[in-house]
Amino acid sequence: MGMKKDTLLLNSGRKPEDHHGIVNPPVYHASTIIRASVEAYEKAENTPFDGVYYGLHGTPTTFAFEEAVASLEDGYRAVATCSGLAAIAGALLAFLKAGDRLLMVDAAYSPTRRLCDGLLAGFGIETTYYDPLIGDGIADLLRKETAAVFVESPGSLTFEVQDVAAIAKAAHDAGATVIMDNTWSAGLYFAPFDHGVDVSIQAATKYIGGHSDLILGAITATEETFARVKRTCVSLGYHAAPDDCYLGLRGLRTLSTRLARHQETGLHLARWLARRPEVDRILHPALPGCPGHEVWKRDFTGACGLFGLVLKDYSSEAVAAMLDGMKVLAIGESWGGYESLILPTKPARNRTAVPWSATAPTLRIHAGLEDPEDLIDDLEKGLARLNGAA
Ligand SMILES: Cc1ncc(COP(=O)(O)O)c(C=O)c1O
Repeated sequence: MGMKKDTLLLNSGRKPEDHHGIVNPPVYHASTIIRASVEAYEKAENTPFDGVYYGLHGTPTTFAFEEAVASLEDGYRAVATCSGLAAIAGALLAFLKAGDRLLMVDAAYSPTRRLCDGLLAGFGIETTYYDPLIGDGIADLLRKETAAVFVESPGSLTFEVQDVAAIAKAAHDAGATVIMDNTWSAGLYFAPFDHGVDVSIQAATKYIGGHSDLILGAITATEETFARVKRTCVSLGYHAAPDDCYLGLRGLRTLSTRLARHQETGLHLARWLARRPEVDRILHPALPGCPGHEVWKRDFTGACGLFGLVLKDYSSEAVAAMLDGMKVLAIGESWGGYESLILPTKPARNRTAVPWSATAPTLRIHAGLEDPEDLIDDLEKGLARLNGAA
């Protein structure tokens, strides 16, 4: 019997016997690699994807992180990248060329959209945005030029849960590669390759890092897609810093324990907010009312601490009064660290296929690891300020 995921996460990418019994793999910094002979030099040249070849392409620290991420996502192999956005760009560039079409989910992380509408458009790659809830209806959008379909489920601002398996089936029938931004599940609560995904990316900056002190990404691939991903990252000169890979690896060891607490607190806050008269709607994939909730129940094994909410029709000044006075929840972008965050969001700015209909203010909350009662207290006082300023 194979190891359970929690045990695997503690053991993958780790060989104390190779490092004097030291528990964590050390940080190797390198550019030049010195070879013992011309024969060894030529052998390394012929196998650039295996072992230490040149510092740019990774050191044993990078490989340890990559091995652990590949186990987390149940993929064949992973490539570490300098950021989550670099992982998205590397994965897209691996499968798209001039004249190709890309189907991109309308709820995508906004820098992903900027990449498609800017750089990729300039390269002659056309992006068509689609409804996150399209399911197998995506078949109607697939053409022979469609080389890739990108899913991000749930969307990190609007939280629609996608039917990834149905989308992947239609994409494969049309010969397209399926790429997923799997950051919300942290790779732990959704198994991308069991649902037909070919390449899964993680912004390791979020839950894998977990402490808001590193920027790191990873692309996990199947055996069929790995070489193309790795070649693209090498061609682009991608490099993930060994110190950040070390921190990413350290974060992975506690990911499951932290995520369980993020989940519990996130649900506690979301349920409390749902009962408040100031709140119109909660956008939490694990709660009824979130678009795609039934798909979440079918496909996910858990939820992280990131969710959204739509307030009743308050002014932006009232929302600012609520947020400015927060003592525990901090106003901040990004997410996945130990600290709780709250942010006003503007989903309408980033939609083209299906306009965002709510005109009332939306907020995004990242539930951190604090005592949940302190967070509730902070939110309760914040809602009092919201009403006071209305
Ligand atoms: C869903 C999602 N994907 C990717 C990224 C990009 O990660 P990074 O900040 O490491 O580039 C982010 C960052 O906010 C994100 O929210």
